[in-house]
Amino acid sequence: MHNTQRPLRIALAGLGTVGAGVIRLLEANRDVIAARAGCEIEVVAVSARDRNKDRGVDLSPFAWEDDMTALASRDDVDVIVELVGGSDGPALALARTALENGKGVVTANKAMIAHHGLALAEAAEARNVPLKFEAAVAGGIPVVKGLREGTSANRIERIYGILNGTCNYILSEMEDTGADFAETLEEAQRLGYAEADPSFDIDGIDAAHKLAILAAIGFGARIDFGNVRTTGITRVTAADIAQADALGYVIRLIAEADVEQSENGARLLQRVRPCLVSKDHPLAPVDGPTNAVVAEGNFSGRLLFQGAGAGEGPTASAVVADLIDIARDEVGAPLSVPVSQLVKMDPVESGHRVGLTYLRFTVADRPGVLAEITAAMRDADVSIESLIQKGRIGDGGDVLVAMVTHEGPEKSVTQALDLLEGSASLTAPPLVLPILPD
Ligand code: NAP
Ligand code: HSE
Repeated sequence: MHNTQRPLRIALAGLGTVGAGVIRLLEANRDVIAARAGCEIEVVAVSARDRNKDRGVDLSPFAWEDDMTALASRDDVDVIVELVGGSDGPALALARTALENGKGVVTANKAMIAHHGLALAEAAEARNVPLKFEAAVAGGIPVVKGLREGTSANRIERIYGILNGTCNYILSEMEDTGADFAETLEEAQRLGYAEADPSFDIDGIDAAHKLAILAAIGFGARIDFGNVRTTGITRVTAADIAQADALGYVIRLIAEADVEQSENGARLLQRVRPCLVSKDHPLAPVDGPTNAVVAEGNFSGRLLFQGAGAGEGPTASAVVADLIDIARDEVGAPLSVPVSQLVKMDPVESGHRVGLTYLRFTVADRPGVLAEITAAMRDADVSIESLIQKGRIGDGGDVLVAMVTHEGPEKSVTQALDLLEGSASLTAPPLVLPILPD
């Protein structure tokens, strides 16, 4: 329990985009933060790799530790704020040591929570110390609080949305400017949105980390990152974006999770993949590094959380909100219910789920190719709603064939693609993008 007669004393590990942002926010909003926390929040010590780097903030009032794990053993620190990143390594060592030493932990590290959140939460529960990670999911949007607190009286039926700012920035910039993928990714990195290894963003892994955390909180399930089916955005081309536009859609990386009841208990569906989103859907106008999360509760109805999903200010805002909660002694189970009560849910097969699908084929420009594709669709019982054939793409003389199916089971589309597997008519693997239901 925090003694409100004195400041909440924190140590910051990591002084990059988010860490420096936390120092700036604590300074700029000192008065409102103290009023709401009931005490000052005071940085006591910091650590990063390079002591001499100019970070645009004055570090002279703080003690410096070369070894960040040493922060967790300081008697003058109540809470460790881990803003280094990485699922394992020094970040995990620091978080474990801090909890073992009875200190609270605040982190923005979704990779660490997705991989080790259960063990860390158990360690926090065992010592009744806080472990908080609002900034780990959707940057500045209070969606962890939204699910842990605001909708806690509900059975959550479905959670879905846009959970990666870098991908959303890339897709919406490509849509607006026609710029290419690599150029737009570089800009996202320059703006501080991307992970240290940006393949985590563009391959969908970062969104999968966040989804696994939200699914655990929302459904009372044990975190199961290993069973998030994940596809990134690297195969989405400017031509797909243009086709989607012509059909009345935008393309967004969508993370979605729900629970299906079966004879063998509750099963969890978790997947991240680029989808076509109707321009009428509330997620369609979500552009730039903005994130948006939809949660459907059985009494609350559909809730939409939207805001900046990445960047210094919004992420620091979420980190400091967690610190204010700790100063107020709002602890509680990190994953909303104690780890021992979280349900282990097996992954669900989704072949029986029905929906519309966009398919893009890159094919050789010769007679019979279209007939071969449509025959595979017929044989797999996939009904085509619309089909566009575009002239030659690139220098190779290939042709783009894009189609949208009528509503049907996912397994039929898979079967049609299996029938086309190895066809000499296809000059590149097909791209399959589900159409997000309303
Ligand atoms: P960043 O700018 O790369 O900063 C990382 C910081 O960690 C740097 O100060 C670095 O030190 C320090 N560091 C790295 N390895 C270290 C080591 N072995 N020992 C000591 N210090 C080490 O990263 P960031 O964008 O602030 O992200 C930090 C965390 O927040 C990550 O978990 C990330 O996923 C999460 N997050 C970021 C955002 C965002 O918009 N950026 C949003 C939500 C969550 P030096 O500066 O000396 O190199
Ligand atoms: N790289 C992440 C993103 C940072 O682009 O969303 C916020 O978690």
